[in-house]
Amino acid sequence: MSSANNNWTEKLNDFRLKLNEHNDKLVRASQKMIIARSKFSKREVDLEFVKSAEAEYKLIKNEFKEIANNDIFLKNVKESKDKLKTVNKNSKEYWKVLEEYKLAVLIFKESKVAIKDRGHGGQLVQLSDIALKLDNIKFRYREGHPFAVNGVSVEIKHGDYVAIIGHNGSGKSTLSKIIIGVLQPTVGSIEVYGNKVTRNNINMIRKFLGIVFQNPDNQFIGSTVRDDIAFGLENRRIAPSKMPDIILDSAKKVRMEEFLDHEPLMLSGGQKQRVAIASALALSPNILIFDEATSMLDPKGKTEVKEIMVQLKNTREKTIFSITHDMDEILNADKVMVMNKGQLVKFGSPKEILSEKEFLRSIHLDIPFVAQIEEALQNEGIKISGSANLEELVKNICQK
Ligand SMILES: Nc1ncnc2c1ncn2[C@@H]1O[C@H](COP(=O)(O)OP(=O)(O)OP(=O)(O)O)[C@@H](O)[C@H]1O
Ligand SMILES: [Mg+2]
Repeated sequence: MSSANNNWTEKLNDFRLKLNEHNDKLVRASQKMIIARSKFSKREVDLEFVKSAEAEYKLIKNEFKEIANNDIFLKNVKESKDKLKTVNKNSKEYWKVLEEYKLAVLIFKESKVAIKDRGHGGQLVQLSDIALKLDNIKFRYREGHPFAVNGVSVEIKHGDYVAIIGHNGSGKSTLSKIIIGVLQPTVGSIEVYGNKVTRNNINMIRKFLGIVFQNPDNQFIGSTVRDDIAFGLENRRIAPSKMPDIILDSAKKVRMEEFLDHEPLMLSGGQKQRVAIASALALSPNILIFDEATSMLDPKGKTEVKEIMVQLKNTREKTIFSITHDMDEILNADKVMVMNKGQLVKFGSPKEILSEKEFLRSIHLDIPFVAQIEEALQNEGIKISGSANLEELVKNICQK
């Protein structure tokens, strides 16, 4: 696609997003007006209250009309048609200009559809295979303070499993909050599947993202596992008829389908985290972030959750970020981001990262258990390296 085409596709996308965002405002204002009217009928509020709700609705409705103006797309059609007339039909350029004209017509038609369904069809789409692109991200909590994240640039392909490691205070959590849109970067730009994150589209961008937190006890709302998974779906206004299938499906993915009627608080830590993962999965995010999701679990729970994470990785359907202090976990990753003092100091495969043991130690990071044993063996003259897990290590030792 030429940049000109990209440009119009982007413009259409922005147009949809604006419509969609404004429609949300319109829906809220109309709900407010309806509630005001009903309260008025019960004499709970006075007429002034109703009038002000109505005025607000009218204002937003007018704004919507202004936004729903697709003249630029029509103008583009006219201009490309005019251009086409000036080009010789036998020239090479003709086909290019013709394609541009056809695209202009298509984009114009799409813009009409977008207005009709108020941008609803216009969810953010995956414009690229790059799940996340950070460009020189800097963030500080207060003016004059040092940057907690200081110039991070990275590109992550869809389907990758990325471990983020770093000493305490290196900026991992700050970075994850920037990725999920809780914090806005002071400097730099973010793209999620080719969509540039802006203040306006952040709510739509969030639909690409799911997060599982550290503390399993802080993530429950429902009185049963089923209710808990349903809660997020209700928030997204998923049709109730579709919910049972989605709930069962996501529970199966974390092997918790037998527990749907159980009370979340009665579950083990590992089971709770699995339910938290199911709740995130139910919303089918493209990017899933685990913020130290295993750190508060007992060894059995840790293993359970890590297994689920690896299974998710193997489907290659999701892009996974795992912030972790568990150096053994990085062996499961495709890519490792090493943070130090707010900077991304290394980015590479686990093998590449682990080959620099001294460097890791210099920034106060341990090396995985398997790599520690390998190192001890190497010091004894037994050359073994690159084992991905304990089993592989044992196999490698036996082959010596
Ligand atoms: N709310 C805040 N207000 C001010 N400074 C903060 C805030 N949160 C974090 N910081 C500072 O920002 C820097 C990065 O912290 P961050 O929590 O991102 O690190 P981290 O790598 O997640 O650490 P940990 O491994 O301890 O979770 C630290 O210097 C920290 O003190
Ligand atoms: Mg943290």
